[in-house]
Amino acid sequence: MKRLRFLLTAFLSALLTVTAVAACNAGGGGGGTTAGNATLIMATSADYPPYEYVDSSSGSQEIVGFDIDIAKYITGELGRELRIDNIDFNGLIPALQSKRADFVMAGMTPTEERKQNVDFSSIYFEAKNTIVAKAGSNLTSAASLNGKTVAVQLGSIQEQAAKEMQGAEVKSLNRISEMIQELKSGRVEALIVEDTVAKGYVESNPDLELNVIPNEGASGSAIAFPKGSELVAQFNPILEEMKTNGTMDELIAKWFGENSPAPTSES
Ligand code: ARG
Repeated sequence: MKRLRFLLTAFLSALLTVTAVAACNAGGGGGGTTAGNATLIMATSADYPPYEYVDSSSGSQEIVGFDIDIAKYITGELGRELRIDNIDFNGLIPALQSKRADFVMAGMTPTEERKQNVDFSSIYFEAKNTIVAKAGSNLTSAASLNGKTVAVQLGSIQEQAAKEMQGAEVKSLNRISEMIQELKSGRVEALIVEDTVAKGYVESNPDLELNVIPNEGASGSAIAFPKGSELVAQFNPILEEMKTNGTMDELIAKWFGENSPAPTSES
């Protein structure tokens, strides 16, 4: 009798699993193809504290940050699971184009050029560019970078900005942490980095300083989607709701405010 009960339970739970998996794979558009439709796949480049970075303090190697909290809120409201894939910044738009990701959050700026290949949500946070250099080096304006070697992130708007600076020799690298290393070891003389990200690195590296420079062209962050994705219309109202119900202000205070956590990883 006991054995029969065991067999019956085993059979029933197997049946349940099969049904659950089938339910995941059925219906609902806009979902990632690899993880079932209930799951939305977000691609990011987790080298960008406080937007997204690997939290090594807990030993969990979890990806955390401002963008991650926004993504969790939105997918939570939509009743979807969230999976996060960490890839180089330069690979994010290709990941959307090949539908390997449902959306990208990576402090990404909605430029006209990118808009030809992907769709964007409304802007959720503004940013400015800065020059990061050794403290006291007097590299405070675009003009001062004439004849200097400047590292930037491959595929970023900062790469574009540096290429437009007269006489600057541009070195494009995959990860922000590599750029910081290049600067500290003297292989490059300056970096172009967004203000909020630069601030964190300068705080943890007192031998460095930052100077804000005027923005040319597009700035700020928006969520990117494959062209024609129906998720844009689902995400935008929730972004608006976050702005009006105070959630966005809370997250800005949490990640960019006085008491925001110091990044523990530079990966
Ligand atoms: N806002 C800049 C851009 O869109 C830089 C973003 C870099 N993001 C990152 N996660 N590394 O080009």
